[in-house]
Amino acid sequence: MEKDLINLKQLAFSDIRAAKNSNKLNEVFLKYFGSSGLFTGLVKHIGKLTAEQRPKTGKLANETKKEIEKAFENQKKKLVEDSLEEWLDVTWPTKSPEVGHLHLVTQAISEITQIFERIGFTRMRYPEIDWEWYAFESLNMPESSPARDDFETFFIDAPAHPKLGRIVLSPHTSSGQVREMERLHHTLPIRMINIAKCYRPNWDISHVPMFHQFEGLVVDKGINITHLKGTMDYFAKEFFGPKRVTRLRPFHFQFTEPSFEVDINCGICLGKGKLVSGEICRLCKSGWLELGGSGMVHPNVLKAGKIDPTKYTGFAFGWGVERAYMMKSGTKLEDIRFLYSNDIRFLEQF
Ligand code: PHE
Repeated sequence: MEKDLINLKQLAFSDIRAAKNSNKLNEVFLKYFGSSGLFTGLVKHIGKLTAEQRPKTGKLANETKKEIEKAFENQKKKLVEDSLEEWLDVTWPTKSPEVGHLHLVTQAISEITQIFERIGFTRMRYPEIDWEWYAFESLNMPESSPARDDFETFFIDAPAHPKLGRIVLSPHTSSGQVREMERLHHTLPIRMINIAKCYRPNWDISHVPMFHQFEGLVVDKGINITHLKGTMDYFAKEFFGPKRVTRLRPFHFQFTEPSFEVDINCGICLGKGKLVSGEICRLCKSGWLELGGSGMVHPNVLKAGKIDPTKYTGFAFGWGVERAYMMKSGTKLEDIRFLYSNDIRFLEQF
């Protein structure tokens, strides 16, 4: 009898452990403790034992019962815990993943593109690796032109083309001007905004060897400086804010005539150069900030693009994306190289 109780206990334990859900566990319970269950049947025999044996066996039966019941309890708890782990409610709020944002330059490019698209410009992209012809010669800058020195250039170590010259990393987006004219000279007008990477071998706090420019080019009948000025002012207000205006300052570029530097009134002192307190404005010092170059397309450039300069005129401008973006943020970026060092602590500020 005692041996039977011990065997029954072992059997019950392994049945309990094998019951992986509450229905199974109930079945096991009935198997042992139901009215015709194994335990129930076994203890019926206690009554038939001798008066001497009965107390000892009865005590063991009680202990066995308690142990088996305890094992049921434990398994029940375990099943509840396991089911909680598996339980999944897809509507339950979760910790949202960290969301990044587009790089500042990418943000600026899309904003600039949209501003010009609103007035009928089309975004174009031209090769970043190009022939000298497109980067210089076609822009009225022959090899002998000292103005070429302003566009320090990376040359690619490859055989030169007999007509198009050597291969360069495009030092400015102006290289797209004549390409766009070649594409559209039969179906003028041209209203292009060319945004691309440019390369010049400079590396200091205000220069990186790879940067971005956005180049506007408009060619049509009757285009004059007022169109240029109007477009500049439109951009200044859309990009920098309603109180901003531009000023054209005479300058020289080989590919425009006349040529101008475009300045924008300072966002802090609004062109006065002084704060209300009388203190000199530390951002601009003079009231104006330089944006970039512009001018009326030189007749030789139109000719290079197969456009008749006696019938058509045009204007062009080319500015740095990084520069414009930093000017917009109203802070002086201490070191432009921060933009490309990929330090998240810097980029997250914007
Ligand atoms: N390409 C000139 C530069 O990189 C800017 C410019 C573009 C000037 C178009 C006039 C017209 O400095």
